[in-house]
Amino acid sequence: MTKGSRSAAMPGQIASLKALLSPRGWSSQISAWIAGLFAAIFEAGSLALILPLATFVLSAEPAAIGPIAVSRESLVAAVILLYVAGLAVRVFALRFTMKTTLSVGYGLAARLFARVLDQPQTWHTRHHSAELRTLLLHDAQELMSLVTIPLGRLLAQGALVLCVGTLMLVVRPVETAVAALVLVTCYALVFALSGQRLTAITATQIQNHALRHRYSTDALNAIREVRLSRLETEFSRSFAAACEGIAASGGARTLFSELPRLMLEAVLFAFLITFMLLLASGREAQDPAALSTLMVFAAAGLKLFPIGHMLYANLASLRSGQPLLDKLARFVDGLEPPLEPAPVPPVTNGFTLDAVSFTHHGSAAPTLRDLSLSVGRGTSLAITGPSGSGKSTLIDIIAGLIMPDAGAVEVEGVRLTARHAPDWQGQLRYCPQKPALFDTDIVGNVTIGADFDRDRLQRALHIACLDDLPFPAEGHPVGELGRRLSGGQVQRIGLARALYGAAPILILDEPTGNLDARTAERFLDRLFAAQGDTIVLIVTHDPRVISRCAQVLELDGP
Ligand SMILES: Nc1ncnc2c1ncn2[C@@H]1O[C@H](COP(=O)(O)OP(=O)(O)OP(=O)(O)O)[C@@H](O)[C@H]1O
Ligand SMILES: [Mg+2]
Repeated sequence: MTKGSRSAAMPGQIASLKALLSPRGWSSQISAWIAGLFAAIFEAGSLALILPLATFVLSAEPAAIGPIAVSRESLVAAVILLYVAGLAVRVFALRFTMKTTLSVGYGLAARLFARVLDQPQTWHTRHHSAELRTLLLHDAQELMSLVTIPLGRLLAQGALVLCVGTLMLVVRPVETAVAALVLVTCYALVFALSGQRLTAITATQIQNHALRHRYSTDALNAIREVRLSRLETEFSRSFAAACEGIAASGGARTLFSELPRLMLEAVLFAFLITFMLLLASGREAQDPAALSTLMVFAAAGLKLFPIGHMLYANLASLRSGQPLLDKLARFVDGLEPPLEPAPVPPVTNGFTLDAVSFTHHGSAAPTLRDLSLSVGRGTSLAITGPSGSGKSTLIDIIAGLIMPDAGAVEVEGVRLTARHAPDWQGQLRYCPQKPALFDTDIVGNVTIGADFDRDRLQRALHIACLDDLPFPAEGHPVGELGRRLSGGQVQRIGLARALYGAAPILILDEPTGNLDARTAERFLDRLFAAQGDTIVLIVTHDPRVISRCAQVLELDGP
């Protein structure tokens, strides 16, 4: 899919859509569109039978469909049957197409969410979570209302207009041709004039939606700082401006979609006057055949005018959806492809780092350069050094969260790649520098992702010094990101979570950073007493921790 093809109208949109939808989603979508198409053809068929029925009713002559003569009963039965069948197909198609299209849309959001969760750590650090939420919760669904639903309706309504139009052309060629010319010119004019504007309106809307998510996420994540720095007004103003922007562009979009309808009303008014004049002249009234064709014309017109307008509205919607489709297609292009997982042998001897180097994206100098290290089973290693020297980066590399630019982590002779990361992570427990808590209770936070075992839970809570809390570990919600707890409590819950699972490697980033001296000592006593042959890696500035570790690695600093 090239960028050029995306900016083209429908073929580009279909190419982008094809890339976004899974093969299953794509085939469901096509079946939904085909169902809509069938419904439209049935509807046109039932309409076509009005002509012989009207002729029959008005003239009392034997009715005929083309050269075939038909009886009154069979004609009435055929009309009713076809009408009811058309109605049934339409009801089924309506439900089926909507349900399928929506499930394809929500399926796209779900698929993108799974892909986003699977992206490497370095990818996540380059994306704001609000930007991702906008894409998953707004853009992926808006794509349905702006692109896939209108595209399906366009096909069905196009088929209906074509069938009914052909019928009208047979009945009244001149009038139909004139009416079609006026209508098509009317719509084409507005479409040509508003096309660019519609695309620009959606681009502004997308931007404002992203800004709303961004402002609300930033402000609510940092509510304390917002209050203390008196930023409430600034954030509410920016949020309100983005909302206002969305409302304004929504209004402009409605105007452009409704403009042709207003023009059409004027045209219809002119038709009505002409029709009345014709009736007044009395010539048409004397001719039942002419009257019956006029009836068909009126019935078809009744059907066609709103559908003709919807056809335009759907085309306009597709045009508006182009920037959204571009945004989603660009996003999917930027995702890292899923990797085939590879197994890592169980750690029996330990692991080594072989000449590992790493430079953060956008950083001028490498954070780690040619670092080699060997860590044996049952040992403890303190990783220390000035702030910004790369301690957390190093353990992210050891944990397989980021891949080194050069060199590798080696486990039992296997040099780890991104494909090994999921299996490797199953062999380690990691408490980050700022553990993230989920809004459940302590027990839920500690045991999350693992089988529940009360003995292991008690042990983990004990080592992490969580056995003397002023509230129960079970049933007391910790709040979003642990906001209802103290900093040291959040840290200890993070530690307990790492200690709960049995794994040969335990990685703790600044475990005593938020703990008082007494609690830190207690925690270290319990941790090392329970170590066994676990490899313990601890990032720390704390001399008490350094003095207890068997090995020390000092990073030089930036
Ligand atoms: N995602 C990132 N993108 C770009 N640069 C980063 C990223 N994460 C860290 N850095 C930079 O890499 C360097 C090392 O950061 P790191 O977090 O590893 O330091 P640290 O030794 O753990 O420091 P501290 O003791 O303050 O926690 C710093 O200069 C930091 O700004
Ligand atoms: Mg750090």
